[in-house]
Amino acid sequence: MERLSCTRRFLKCSIFILISGLSICTTLKLTVPSPVIHGIKGQPLILPVYYEVNQSASSVQIIWLMERSQAQARYLITSINQSVMPDLELQHKLTLKPPNASLLIHSLHLNDEGTYIVKVNLEGNTTVSATQKIDVTVDVPVSKPMVQTEPSYGAVEQVGNITFKCFAMKGTRVVYEWLKNGGPLQDRSSYVFSPNNATFTIVSVTKGDIGNYSCLARNFVSETESDVITPTIYYGPYGLRVISDKGLKVGEVFTIDTGQSVRFDCSADSNPPNTCAWIQRTNNSTEIINYGPYFKLLSDKVRQKSMDYLCRAYNNITGRGEEMQFTVIITPIDPEKLLQDTGSLSPLAAITGVSLFIILSICLLFIWKKYQLHRGIQWKLQPRRPSTEYRRTPIFSGHEDAINDFGIYEFVSLPDAVVPHRAPGQAASVLHLQDINCTIYEVIQHVPEQAQNDPQS
Ligand SMILES: *[C@@H]1O[C@H](CO)[C@@H](O)[C@H](O)[C@H]1NC(C)=O
Ligand SMILES: *[C@@H]1O[C@H](CO)[C@@H](O)[C@H](O)[C@H]1NC(C)=O
Ligand SMILES: *[C@@H]1O[C@H](CO)[C@@H](O)[C@H](O)[C@H]1NC(C)=O
Ligand SMILES: *[C@@H]1O[C@H](CO)[C@@H](O)[C@H](O)[C@H]1NC(C)=O
Ligand SMILES: *[C@@H]1O[C@H](CO)[C@@H](O)[C@H](O)[C@H]1NC(C)=O
Ligand SMILES: *[C@@H]1O[C@H](CO)[C@@H](O)[C@H](O)[C@H]1NC(C)=O
Ligand SMILES: *[C@@H]1O[C@H](CO)[C@@H](O)[C@H](O)[C@H]1NC(C)=O
Ligand SMILES: *[C@@H]1O[C@H](CO)[C@@H](O)[C@H](O)[C@H]1NC(C)=O
Ligand SMILES: *[C@@H]1O[C@H](CO)[C@@H](O)[C@H](O)[C@H]1NC(C)=O
Ligand SMILES: *[C@@H]1O[C@H](CO)[C@@H](O)[C@H](O)[C@H]1NC(C)=O
Ligand SMILES: *[C@@H]1O[C@H](CO)[C@@H](O)[C@H](O)[C@H]1NC(C)=O
Repeated sequence: MERLSCTRRFLKCSIFILISGLSICTTLKLTVPSPVIHGIKGQPLILPVYYEVNQSASSVQIIWLMERSQAQARYLITSINQSVMPDLELQHKLTLKPPNASLLIHSLHLNDEGTYIVKVNLEGNTTVSATQKIDVTVDVPVSKPMVQTEPSYGAVEQVGNITFKCFAMKGTRVVYEWLKNGGPLQDRSSYVFSPNNATFTIVSVTKGDIGNYSCLARNFVSETESDVITPTIYYGPYGLRVISDKGLKVGEVFTIDTGQSVRFDCSADSNPPNTCAWIQRTNNSTEIINYGPYFKLLSDKVRQKSMDYLCRAYNNITGRGEEMQFTVIITPIDPEKLLQDTGSLSPLAAITGVSLFIILSICLLFIWKKYQLHRGIQWKLQPRRPSTEYRRTPIFSGHEDAINDFGIYEFVSLPDAVVPHRAPGQAASVLHLQDINCTIYEVIQHVPEQAQNDPQS
């Protein structure tokens, strides 16, 4: 019974050690922060190890071994108390500073890769020991990768495949990842990857595959992205549209006025840009009237009221075409519209303009006269003005009562000698005006009836 329980206790303890590495059966706790460490070739590497001890230890022994796959463990370095004993082959390569158990490797080589084993023995009242392992990898950093496409000239939509090849000159254990427009590729059935992702093919490209592709090359110690490459994908034409610079478009019917010259543009989404042919349909026959992205229609030259046209877009690389039929209806000239179009003033507008000008002039004159009258009154009220001022002022003749002055004022000139003669309703042209050297204002009473009857006024 006793023996059995002892064995059981031993098993328990062993299992616990296996699981946790932390022991309550011993007083030594050995830890490594990371069980795997990625080193860079040519760089130093520290394999950190920490231990805690619970009992006072008289002697501390640290042992480092290295194990490579399918090879015997190799002795590296040992220390007891403060004395260090490296493998003499490696004495310049390794540093151990007891009681610190961490190992420093000065310069990593690719063959330094392997599993490093550290064992710490402590001697006190009893001897306790602990072991840990660290896996070390050594890699060369990746250089900037280059991307090539095949075929380099591009591929035709739905027919061609494009293969991207990524290649990094330097680097060990490089894996590749592909990015489209800076983001990871979405899963598509049309994407085919090589085992290490170094090449990637888009089977049967589509317009949606157009984008900026780049390759990310990476290993444990570095990551670099290639330049962006934009493959050429030939597609289209799609979404053929016919637009005109003038006229009204309703559906596929353009309404234009006679005399207008209209330019029709045919546009479609296509790479390379599509070629366009313009076809006129008359009765059952078709006639190509123009090649190119646009054509100009002179509506004068069209004898019929409505014509059917066809724009045929063709992509000479994809070998696909699209066509659109449209009808042009020519409306007869609207005289009013034509006048506006030609930019000439309509008679009505001219009459309105002239009338406005006359009215404005008359108003200005009336105001001016009122001003003069006001000044005349002022002179009368102030008789003791310097005589020079009298001489400078024009001769004033008229009523002091402004109400009677209401009417149409006409600007006439009279000879000096002629005394202004008031002739109601009389036209100014009746006066014989010769040798006119000074001007006066003739007030003509406004007689609307007469003015209307007399076509001259
Ligand atoms: C330290 O020693 C005491 C007994 O002396 C023990 O109970 C304790 O678990 C030990 N601690 C460690 C971390 O081993
Ligand atoms: C280690 O040092 C202690 C005293 O610090 C000493 O008692 C012990 O013998 C030394 N061990 C060895 C192996 O020299
Ligand atoms: C042990 O040595 C390493 C490097 O040699 C250092 O980083 C670490 O801090 C040291 N540990 C202690 C407990 O001194
Ligand atoms: C170690 O042994 C000494 C004397 O032999 C004793 O005084 C001490 O308590 C022991 N320490 C432990 C942790 O058992
Ligand atoms: C594109 O790839 C598919 C599948 O690999 C293949 O069947 C097809 O022939 C390829 N097309 C061209 C143009 O290479
Ligand atoms: C691709 O890159 C070019 C310039 O490098 C940029 O103008 C374009 O917008 C990019 N396209 C996308 C979809 O990000
Ligand atoms: C290849 O790339 C795809 C997507 O970019 C990724 O899911 C996959 O894990 C990569 N494979 C390898 C072997 O890197
Ligand atoms: C156009 O051709 C069709 C058959 O080809 C015929 O039925 C139709 O009458 C023709 N129309 C004119 C206007 O010639
Ligand atoms: C189209 O057919 C009509 C009669 O069917 C004829 O009068 C007209 O001249 C034809 N137009 C052209 C352009 O041939
Ligand atoms: C295809 O069309 C483009 C422009 O539309 C033109 O520059 C090119 O010469 C054409 N190629 C062939 C083979 O006809
Ligand atoms: C009017 O002026 C003209 C020259 O403009 C002059 O010959 C004429 O004598 C003048 N008449 C009077 C009446 O001053």
